[in-house]
Amino acid sequence: MRRAKPKDPQEGGLGSLLRRRRNVYGFLARPIDRGTLEEILDDSAHVPSAGFTQDCDLVVVRDAAVKKELAEAAREPEYLKRGQAKSRFISGAPVVVVPCGNRSLFEARYGAPAEKSARLPWWLIDAGFVSLALILSAFEKGLAASFIGGFDDDRVAKALSLPRDGSVVPLAIVPMGYARKEGSARRQKEKSIVAARRRDRKDVVHWDRW
Ligand SMILES: Cc1cc2nc3c(=O)[nH]c(=O)nc-3n(C[C@H](O)[C@H](O)[C@H](O)COP(=O)(O)O)c2cc1C
Repeated sequence: MRRAKPKDPQEGGLGSLLRRRRNVYGFLARPIDRGTLEEILDDSAHVPSAGFTQDCDLVVVRDAAVKKELAEAAREPEYLKRGQAKSRFISGAPVVVVPCGNRSLFEARYGAPAEKSARLPWWLIDAGFVSLALILSAFEKGLAASFIGGFDDDRVAKALSLPRDGSVVPLAIVPMGYARKEGSARRQKEKSIVAARRRDRKDVVHWDRW
């Protein structure tokens, strides 16, 4: 089969939005207005979920002290100290959303323990869909966001007063805001690193069989 020449993504379409999204690590102090934030949160409800259980809850953090605790749980101070981060990429964001898999909602529909009825932990996978929707919606509205998956679960659970019985699992820390303008040389360098490392479609896609 001849390989079709890829078309340029349509300006303003989903393809161009997906290509524009980056994990952004520096935010302006500029706040997110309440209406825009609520639109982003509403957009993220329109994703699929297992049996339409909608088993993802969002903790939306604006409180500086809670943001600081989340940042510490994700080792922001250490990254800054070692020069591996250039800015307070969590504590410096105007809003930090923590999408949480709600295992109790899944179990209310399918029975407990969830492992018996679920081939995979769908409550976490559903939280992943919600996370990406939040991030894409933010970019679509001219903001930026990132997905931070590496953190100390217990510290995050404590910072957010999550139930301690394992029924609510924080999936990610999603800082959100207006992106700090990086120097164009640095932005170009990061863009080309990601482009160079992106797997080629011919290696990723298996037609008909593996
Ligand atoms: C499941 C998952 C976990 C991630 N965890 C982290 C993390 O802990 N820290 C971080 O800086 N970036 C994290 N990232 C962001 C990725 O490193 C980033 O998406 C990847 O390098 C590609 O860059 P891009 O998002 O700018 O295209 C995570 C992304 C995903 C999907």
